[in-house]
Amino acid sequence: TPDDSAYAAAGVPVVDVTTTGLGPGPLQQIMGLMREHGPQLVRRVHGRDALFVSDLDLVTELADESRFAKSIGPALRNVREFAADGLFTAYNDEPNWARAHDILMPAFALGSMRTYHPVMYKVARRLVESWDLAAGDGSPVDVPGDMTRMTLDTIGLAGFGYDFASFESSEPHPFVEAMVRCLEWSMKRLARVPGGDYEAADAAFRADADYLAQVVDDVISARVESGERHTDDLLGLMLTAQHPRDGSTLDTANIRNQVITFLIAGHETTSGAMSFAMYYLAKNPAVLDLVRREVDALWGDTTDPEPDFDEVGRLTYTRQVLNEALRLWPTAAAFSREAREDTLLGGRIPLRAGQGVTVLAPMLHREPVWGDNPERFDPNRFTPEAEAARSPHAFKPFGTGERACIGRQFALHEATMLLAMLVHRYRLVDHADYELSVKETLTLKPDGFTLTLAPRTPAD
Ligand code: HEM
Repeated sequence: TPDDSAYAAAGVPVVDVTTTGLGPGPLQQIMGLMREHGPQLVRRVHGRDALFVSDLDLVTELADESRFAKSIGPALRNVREFAADGLFTAYNDEPNWARAHDILMPAFALGSMRTYHPVMYKVARRLVESWDLAAGDGSPVDVPGDMTRMTLDTIGLAGFGYDFASFESSEPHPFVEAMVRCLEWSMKRLARVPGGDYEAADAAFRADADYLAQVVDDVISARVESGERHTDDLLGLMLTAQHPRDGSTLDTANIRNQVITFLIAGHETTSGAMSFAMYYLAKNPAVLDLVRREVDALWGDTTDPEPDFDEVGRLTYTRQVLNEALRLWPTAAAFSREAREDTLLGGRIPLRAGQGVTVLAPMLHREPVWGDNPERFDPNRFTPEAEAARSPHAFKPFGTGERACIGRQFALHEATMLLAMLVHRYRLVDHADYELSVKETLTLKPDGFTLTLAPRTPAD
């Protein structure tokens, strides 16, 4: 990595946080540092440097696939300890990345969402049934907890025909608890002190990772033993499909890594996104009112509307609300790029081939291109006109380029439908006057966010 004088010459401050450590919220720590020092900085901890940027010009450059590619930085190297060469954590040149990407891409095209729609609806109804009980007795609902139940059940059923039945238990599914601990281990490992004793933490991590693998092996063997030859879900494709060009298939170890990857990537971020959207709806009555108008125009007084696939596509304002929540709190908040050759970023920051740079999306999403009050929640930032007038690189909640999120349409379809159903059905009561506190477990969630609910009356 360049020495301090090279950073100084490039005008990039080096901020050493060794004495305070990374704390419980490393991402929010960098957000704070950027507010203080500007949109490019090096964070140093125990002599380890990481370069973070959020300014639009530099992010635009980093999106140029001819000069930069996805980097598996320290955080994802830790995630590789349990997701190995799954799509999210595979190195660009690992053959299994391209093979799995090409085999699975069709399963994520917009049209394929038609296949998943009925399952998404079925699981959304589980959440509604559980929330109806809470609305009945006035008890608060744990918004991020229930969103996580819903997204886990959805990806389990839609992807693998496996039912986690998360609403049948008051505790999170053990898979979720083990997964969250694995993600936390990946995050905390970044802050390790040289010479520290981490044996117990690593042993606990190993046990959790083994448990995840065992759940996944059960998911796979349930399918294999059923003798059914599905080809319309992810697992079916992985077990049967041949690569469109060379006819190769995915090996068993890789299929296991992909299932772990999809179970994690497919639910944790989406549930956070829906939770933040609910938070902003509860806090912004004028926005909530516009969502109500949109859903009422579709479903009027129908008590139990069953949204069909095309209707979800027509919920454009609800979709804008989700985008705006992902702008302020992109739940997978950072992604890293690496230089393909030695280069100068922004014409001045020297980068060696392979050196990583991390884009901090929450700060990119507060750049001047977003106007002079970027903290204001305003879904009108995502009207088609506003989007057309803005650089496509100003909004990157799903990463960039060929390694961008494969599940974007999946997440947006699932989340838009659920939000619309909830707004149509309930009055959201911010009973605890909730003050936003963002919990980090590599991904972001509003911590301890609860609401109470009441059925809507014709007057609301
Ligand atoms: C990749 C965000 C939902 C599967 C990514 C990346 C981001 C992201 C930022 C790129 C990471 C990087 O460059 O290192 C999100 C957000 C979601 C979401 C914010 C929800 C709101 C989903 C869903 C699935 C999924 C629902 C699966 C059903 C994946 C996979 C990759 C990925 C497999 C790796 C793609 C590759 O490198 O080939 N996601 N994601 N994600 N996401 Fe998502």
